Amino acid sequence: MPRPVIIDCDPGTDDAVALLLAFASPELDVRAVTVAGGNVGLARTLANALALTRLAGVSVPVHAGADRPLLGAFTGEPRVHGPDGLGGIVLPPGGAPAPGIAADAIRAILRQSADPVTLVGIGPATNLALALATEPALAERVAAIALMSGAWAEGNVTPAAEFNAWSDPEALAILLAAGRPVTFATLELTAQALATPERIAQWRAKGTGRCLAAACDIQASVPPSQRLGGRGAPLHDPCAVLCLTHPRLFTSRPAHVQVELAAGISRGRTVMNRWGGVPNARVLDTLDADGFFAVLGERLATLP
Ligand code: RIB
Ligand code: CA
Repeated sequence: MPRPVIIDCDPGTDDAVALLLAFASPELDVRAVTVAGGNVGLARTLANALALTRLAGVSVPVHAGADRPLLGAFTGEPRVHGPDGLGGIVLPPGGAPAPGIAADAIRAILRQSADPVTLVGIGPATNLALALATEPALAERVAAIALMSGAWAEGNVTPAAEFNAWSDPEALAILLAAGRPVTFATLELTAQALATPERIAQWRAKGTGRCLAAACDIQASVPPSQRLGGRGAPLHDPCAVLCLTHPRLFTSRPAHVQVELAAGISRGRTVMNRWGGVPNARVLDTLDADGFFAVLGERLATLP
């Protein structure tokens, strides 16, 4: 039976590829897409999620959520994703968002689902945290939480912190305290998923559908990461989806994860003890990158 999932996102170029991948994954039953402000403001991330859902031709409800973190003000990351969030790639407009805000929709799905639901977080975790913090009893309806978040070494938005964790560290702390299995795709993992021009060209050769073309164009718009040698951009968010559908492409280990909430230069840092402590999460270690890109291209090519 397909795994019921809710995907909470901030599209975002890599979110776009992750959403299309999820829509093309028969192992997943995407019950809803919920959207937060993150890479760019909520108005844009919502429009992008709606456009991607329509592009894929799927009838998945898209709910607007938080336009700012639990504490503090919204900040974005237009340097990577462009001011529109999709690297300047213009998609046909999507439909209207589903009624109800993200946190309420997440709680309603958890409450009504016959089976526990997996929460996939690929943006600031504000919506997921609001859902669980306002109705803690629903945590038992959560099968697992898969996050693109954090790093055990250097961050990408500050030297200490990865963008999603840094954007709303209190929200991440709430997820860690929920008592459900949490898996992290950290920056060290996603650095192994380097989308080079060659790999994008291999995708393009797999089909002629509009979704495959859009994924290639969107990913090709992302500036190569100088942090990773300038050969390509790490494809962060699809890792949090593929670890659910193709776990054999990954290795992982238990870890004790905490997030720094104090103001200052380390705020949002995920302190990951991968060698000791009482584990409260799993951290993905390695990725079969060739297998990852092959599956991604094949899956994207199945979409319209
Ligand atoms: O640090 C990378 C993460 O932050 C990705 O999810 C990207 O989309 C941004 O949200
Ligand atoms: Ca994201």
